[in-house]
Amino acid sequence: MILAMVDRTDRAQGEFKQDRRSHMRRIGAGWLLGNPVPRYVIVAVAATGLVIGALALLASVLVKDWSQRDIELRSRLVFRSIRDQVARAMIAKPEIDLVPVFQRIAQDERILALGFCTAQAQLRYATKEFPKSVTCVSVKRSKSAAFATTVASGERIHVSSFPITAGKSTGHLLVLHDLAFIDARAAEARLYTLLTLIGVTAGLSLLATVIVLALMRAWSRSIRGALIEMQHGSASESPHHADFPISREIHTALTELRMERRFANGIHVEWSPKTLHRLLVDELPHAQVIVVSNREPYIHNRAGSAITLQIPASGLVAALEPVMRACGGTWVAHGSGSADRDTVDATDRLPVPPADPAYSLRRVWLSEKEQNGYYYGFANEGLWPLCHIAFVRPIFREEDWAQYRKVNQRFAEVIVQEASCDDPVVLVQDYHFALLPRMIRDRLPKATIITFWHIPWPNAETFGICPWREEIIDGLLGSTILGFHTQFHCNNFLEAADRFIESRIDRELASVTFRGQETLIRPYPISIEWPPAALAEQAPVRECRDAVRQRFALPADIRIAVGIERFDYTKGVLDRIRAVDDLLTSHPEWIGRFVFIQAAAPTRSKLGTYSALEAEAEQLVAKVNARHSRDGFQPVRLVIRHHEPDEVFELFRASDMCIVSSLHDGMNLVSKEFVAARDDEHGVLILSSFAGASRELSEALIVNPYDTHGMAEAFLQALRMPPAEQRDRMRLMRELVRERNVYRWAAQMLLDAARLRQRQRITSSKAAPAGRIVPLQPVPATKERKMA
Ligand code: G6P
Repeated sequence: MILAMVDRTDRAQGEFKQDRRSHMRRIGAGWLLGNPVPRYVIVAVAATGLVIGALALLASVLVKDWSQRDIELRSRLVFRSIRDQVARAMIAKPEIDLVPVFQRIAQDERILALGFCTAQAQLRYATKEFPKSVTCVSVKRSKSAAFATTVASGERIHVSSFPITAGKSTGHLLVLHDLAFIDARAAEARLYTLLTLIGVTAGLSLLATVIVLALMRAWSRSIRGALIEMQHGSASESPHHADFPISREIHTALTELRMERRFANGIHVEWSPKTLHRLLVDELPHAQVIVVSNREPYIHNRAGSAITLQIPASGLVAALEPVMRACGGTWVAHGSGSADRDTVDATDRLPVPPADPAYSLRRVWLSEKEQNGYYYGFANEGLWPLCHIAFVRPIFREEDWAQYRKVNQRFAEVIVQEASCDDPVVLVQDYHFALLPRMIRDRLPKATIITFWHIPWPNAETFGICPWREEIIDGLLGSTILGFHTQFHCNNFLEAADRFIESRIDRELASVTFRGQETLIRPYPISIEWPPAALAEQAPVRECRDAVRQRFALPADIRIAVGIERFDYTKGVLDRIRAVDDLLTSHPEWIGRFVFIQAAAPTRSKLGTYSALEAEAEQLVAKVNARHSRDGFQPVRLVIRHHEPDEVFELFRASDMCIVSSLHDGMNLVSKEFVAARDDEHGVLILSSFAGASRELSEALIVNPYDTHGMAEAFLQALRMPPAEQRDRMRLMRELVRERNVYRWAAQMLLDAARLRQRQRITSSKAAPAGRIVPLQPVPATKERKMA
């Protein structure tokens, strides 16, 4: 499926190239290919032409105006230079001929002719070129002393008339200029202005085109680079982004788009180790992943001189171990095995799984006093019964609390030691570490801390019993994301935060803001790996059945029911034995034909409630067996010991039904493992309505473990269920567990974390206040959610 995502990316990239090519054609290359020129280009060229024409016209008008004034000035100069000479001649010798003087002055190439008009409007002196059409009468009639006129030959001339007084005689000196040169000069000015403007415009256009083409090349290179990154999932911080601000924008937008697409596509992804690993590379490139839990995934114990390896019976380990195998990183946990110290290196680390190392296990050592206070005391006598409604009174001791705090602090120090950067992704597991998220946040403020609470969270009244309720909520709110199995537990936590601390709660976004930092509260239903590793080595169902029948000396036609878990009072083991008793009492026809095998792994045996449970269970089994045994056949078999995963799966495959009757359970992975083990699509799951798994596995026979007879009726229904119905129910449940496997569980959290980190990066680059997170919008309803 992830390949389909890549295909889509390829297609998107192909489409993008196509689009880009057609766009290039539209904006430029189209001219060459004969496509119509865009209208905006025509308008721009026309407007530029108009502006250039107007400027050229203006230049010619200015030149004409300037030339006109020049002529007037020249005429006045001529007049002043000969005025006195003309006046003296008029007084001394009125008959004197001034034509030679005029002729000399008229040699100037611009002056066309000179003349003198008497007071009687007679032209007394005139140079040879003086035009006939210009007469003293016409000059006298003209209102202006200077004017332009057109002579008979068609030439335009300029006439300036200056009055001269000499004694009693008066007259006018006429200076005539040829205007042809002004027109020539104006035409020249127009031409040169046009040429200059066209040249400058063309130059600037060329420069602009070069700049635009260079920018477009850089943008397209950047987009192509970002698309290639999208396809190959390479690092988000490429060096070429830094030198080009717009390419950074494009990159950011594409990265966001990619995230959105992944979110949208996420529901269709077949989650597997491969796709989960791919997600890490794509969405959290270079992120260091650190898991922290109390229980370690591999325990080394000393058995005489030998060292044995044990995989503990823990839902947490069953879920997280395959995730770590897929993701790599470091798992920090309490080294509780008797040979654990002998199997680590000098830094308390060892590569695991031992047969095929994929990640590093970092063991933390605790003294007996610390274990008693932190693990047995506060975690398992305080928080465990507090969070499970199993009617066992929680015990809170001051000294347990002190050890709990101390051990949380110790783990915080180890996390800081293990962190190779200032923003690792830390996955904090469970109720042993309620204070740890805050302690890590104080030391590594930029860390992405995802805390998952594997057990239920009680209602606010119940939680209020805890004397350190505020500290616990405060500690958990150091997380970036706080996850529970169900929405119901999320709601309970929000209620508790509302009631016990001064925080801001956004119920729409399901977030709590406390100490200036926002924590998202999200449901992430946990699951198992698919296909389960333990299934790979399993024999066919019939052989498993034969093996179990032999081991327990059972007849061939026996119907087998199994219960497999840690021997914990929350699991309702006593209740199911009582239901077996009820079944055999009300339906004795099943005596000798029905067996219930309870595999129970000893757990927390140091605690009184647990040892008392074992003793009570043994007594109850003895009583029921005594009541319903026939010919030495005992209907209940209680096996108190640790079972390795392959033994567990063999039992699942050998059975006709599996009973999960938890009085209260966060999720319960036994139910999902049973479904996963039944690749033959047979077997019936009887599931408590108080286990989180009942929200998902609704094709199971859902029971109330407190209703003994009701549970016995469910056993009967299972015994009578036709194979076809078993197959139909099992098929649906297997489909769901296959799709919603543990890789999806981890992926959902990591995707949310990736999105937050991405947004944090964007907001911090815009100088948002430190620590403030832009909250995730609730994920829109999807097909998958509607199905849930
Ligand atoms: C539950 C808890 C886990 C725990 C497991 C086994 O599933 O949520 O945190 O590891 O029980 O309990 P134990 O005390 O043996 O680790």
